[in-house]
Amino acid sequence: MTAKPKVILTRKWPAKVEAVMQERFDTQLNTADRAMSPGELRAALNLYDAVCPTVTDKMGADVLEHPARAKILGNFGVGFNHIDTEAARAAGLAVTNTPGVLTDATADIALTVLLNVMRRTWEGETMLRAGDWTGWRPTQLMGRSPQGKVLGIIGMGRIGKAMAKRCHHALDMEIVFYDAFPVNDPGVPATQLGTVDEVLAAADVVSLHCPGGGENIHLINGARLARMKPSAFIVNSARGDIIDEAALVTALQAGQIAGAGLDVFEREPAITEALKGMANVCLLPHLGSATTETREAMGMTVVENLTAFFAGEEPPNRVA
Ligand code: DGY
Repeated sequence: MTAKPKVILTRKWPAKVEAVMQERFDTQLNTADRAMSPGELRAALNLYDAVCPTVTDKMGADVLEHPARAKILGNFGVGFNHIDTEAARAAGLAVTNTPGVLTDATADIALTVLLNVMRRTWEGETMLRAGDWTGWRPTQLMGRSPQGKVLGIIGMGRIGKAMAKRCHHALDMEIVFYDAFPVNDPGVPATQLGTVDEVLAAADVVSLHCPGGGENIHLINGARLARMKPSAFIVNSARGDIIDEAALVTALQAGQIAGAGLDVFEREPAITEALKGMANVCLLPHLGSATTETREAMGMTVVENLTAFFAGEEPPNRVA
């Protein structure tokens, strides 16, 4: 009998999936859920056939060069901008991700922060918990109605389309979007505009659904924020580095935009201090895919990718 491939999970995974990983592979778990250092990640690439990183593992060229043993990175997540795919290719490493299974969960969180900032629900809850609610008043915490407003989506992939569906059907919003490629079927009535700037100028809410890293770093900078309406909100459930966080703070402080709903941050888990003091900002700790069902499905997608790879087949979700 040939030995099972040796696999390491860099963080703790849902117990159900860890059990399957252990059945299929000779799997090293991370029961303490402690983030591995770059040195530990480098060492793992010399000791294991597969390393399964997450968004918190920065896999740059310094970590990836000359792995003595690993042949594949089975990323636990759809976004993979934390992995230098060029360096992975050069090091002979395949890279896979987990698309499809977290689409709804992530769109749900985008919708959650959209409603939260537009309807000021977090402000209301904070007031209530602080014991400051003295009773209903006609002018108390008046937010903005999404109905009839324009949602501008940047990046009309799976999650962008799921957000468009929610906002069209549940909130009666009009949808415009930018995508670098022609999108023939956005799923709901929606107008593709030619540039990011056109979307920013037209939208009452801008929702980001493009990948992070590369040319999308600071796609939303000070100049672009200045193109938005002063009454508009921005929602980010994609990657923190898409927005220049310092420029966002400046725009919010200057009243250039009305508010922001953020599930991701430029320097996670650090958050620009000024954001924490702003009432018109909703902040969540990268919860996009955080449901039991979704995280289990993400883990099972990694299992399928590794199983195919070690059987000598093309993994279904190979990205490099
Ligand atoms: C994803 O899958 O990209 C989530 O943001 C977690 O990494």
